[in-house]
Amino acid sequence: MAATTEAVIVRAPAKINLELRVGPVREDGYHELATVFHAVALFDDLTARATAPGAGVSITVDGIQADEVPTDSSNLAVKAAELLAAHIGLESADVAFELRKGIPVAGGMAGGSADAAAALVACDALWHAGLDRETLHELAAQLGSDVPFSLLGGTAIGGGRGEVLTPVLARGEYTWVIALADHGLSTPGVYGKIDAMRAAGEVAQPTPVPEIDDELMAALRAGDAEGLGRTLHNELQPAALALAPHLEKALEIGRKVGALGGIVSGSGPTTVFLARDSSQALDLAVALTASGAAVDVRRATGPVPGARLVESIRG
Ligand code: C5P
Repeated sequence: MAATTEAVIVRAPAKINLELRVGPVREDGYHELATVFHAVALFDDLTARATAPGAGVSITVDGIQADEVPTDSSNLAVKAAELLAAHIGLESADVAFELRKGIPVAGGMAGGSADAAAALVACDALWHAGLDRETLHELAAQLGSDVPFSLLGGTAIGGGRGEVLTPVLARGEYTWVIALADHGLSTPGVYGKIDAMRAAGEVAQPTPVPEIDDELMAALRAGDAEGLGRTLHNELQPAALALAPHLEKALEIGRKVGALGGIVSGSGPTTVFLARDSSQALDLAVALTASGAAVDVRRATGPVPGARLVESIRG
């Protein structure tokens, strides 16, 4: 008898946006983006176990901020399992997930998207679906704008609403210091705030077609950390700071310690700093922790790969 797969473990990374340009609102309610995604070494690990036929999807969560993660059908990993099951014609998405969070929840680091990407890779392996990358990408895009990048990883340009990806041939490894804030920000809330600030003339109007900065791309191609630090940019930052003014304190500490650059990550409230080296990363971590500007501080390198199978247990 052929061996069946009993369980698989998939690891998926957090992302930061090295640049995030936000165009006007489209007819479908999303904003046209020009962004550079970068996967960093903060991970969620998802174990997926085979269950009895008809059992459906279940999920338990542990790790950082685990109590803030929903365990019902609103969980993106649950949605991903159900979507993949429907796609391959299974009547019931039978899987038991155990999720270990290492990525901040509602932190602007695509933690939920990482879980969705991990669930797609896990269910594909557990159910021997053998889906190709393109199909997984299409399913990922249905689950959320950042999910395709969580599958791909590395460093990539994101267009459309974030789902149209072009890998970047970036050189070098970068050292990031990641400052976690309490009270997550809602992504739609932050997008809505930037629209309101633009309408009120409090910030510059969006360019009709957002574009990536040439200088940032040149820095990535050259592996030039100083150039990258200078060109980090997030057009959602004014909105995140308006909703969470205390984040300014963390950015101020980054400047004082002399980080190569510091920005709000995606829609926030996490802030990220590019360190010159591991010794400066330690200085930044200590200063951010001591000041109380961050509830927790992590150090992580990037780029790292997207969601991938790390273990497969056969029965
Ligand atoms: O695609 P996802 O479900 O992750 O998006 C969450 C919310 O973020 C959307 O409902 C929308 O309010 C906002 N968003 C946007 N433009 C994008 C991506 C997300 O307005 N390109």
